[in-house]
Amino acid sequence: MNPIHATLAAVAALAAAGAVQKRGSRNTDDVYIRRGTIRIGDDETLKVRKLGKGMFTVAYVTTELPTPRVFLEVNDDRGGDQSKAALSDIYDGDDTNVHIPKVQRVGYTANKTVYEMPLYNAPLRKGNSPKAWEQYKVLKKCWDQGHHQLRERLGFYEANNPYNGHKIMDSVVECAERNPEMPESLLDALREIKGTIANYGSEYSFEFSPRNLATDDDGNLILLDTTYSLLSVQQRRGRR
Ligand SMILES: Nc1ncnc2c1ncn2[C@@H]1O[C@H](COP(=O)(O)OP(=O)(O)O)[C@@H](O)[C@H]1O
Ligand SMILES: [Mg+2]
Repeated sequence: MNPIHATLAAVAALAAAGAVQKRGSRNTDDVYIRRGTIRIGDDETLKVRKLGKGMFTVAYVTTELPTPRVFLEVNDDRGGDQSKAALSDIYDGDDTNVHIPKVQRVGYTANKTVYEMPLYNAPLRKGNSPKAWEQYKVLKKCWDQGHHQLRERLGFYEANNPYNGHKIMDSVVECAERNPEMPESLLDALREIKGTIANYGSEYSFEFSPRNLATDDDGNLILLDTTYSLLSVQQRRGRR
């Protein structure tokens, strides 16, 4: 373990201790979401509506604030998805990359973690930003190529090993780096996300789809939810 891994492990352990400790008595990091309201700790209750849903996340947006706030209730235990945890690590580290969503951990419900971030324009639409759409197309092409190369190199069976997710991530970044249309800020964002999610396991890979991408008001591509655990998705499919 290098120092950054050790620090992250310590943070994760503290977070887990907090989640356990809160059962029983009420805690300042308790969050309650029910019947159109979210209550954060003791001091804030906000009206919300459901905004979207993925395999591991339910997203809510406030309805009465001048600047809307988005809250995400995420299953980020071992069999869940730690992508938001990784994004919040990046934000805690004071990263200011325009393409990385500003995700903060705000507390815990009974068995999920709650994160907050700004409202972006999601899903990604060509009409909202032709520039961001072109960048998405490059990333999608790189992802397709990465998969193809992995199958050629390792064979179909081994290419499906979930722990090879990081190899896909490596080849996506290398492919994007070769593309002259990719701005340095976007390459930095991809490298930052790849490096941070690697702390959570080699089973994480990239995913680029309009559903998991967004734009900000300046038309910048936002990498809203571009990582996922190949292992968690396989396990969920297996259980059904
Ligand atoms: N900050 C946000 N702004 C706008 N829409 C969002 C935001 N966060 C999430 N969403 C919407 O909620 C959906 C589910 O969130 P996501 O993080 O992709 O969940 P999952 O990790 O389960 O895939 C997204 O596809 C998107 O449509
Ligand atoms: Mg998603």
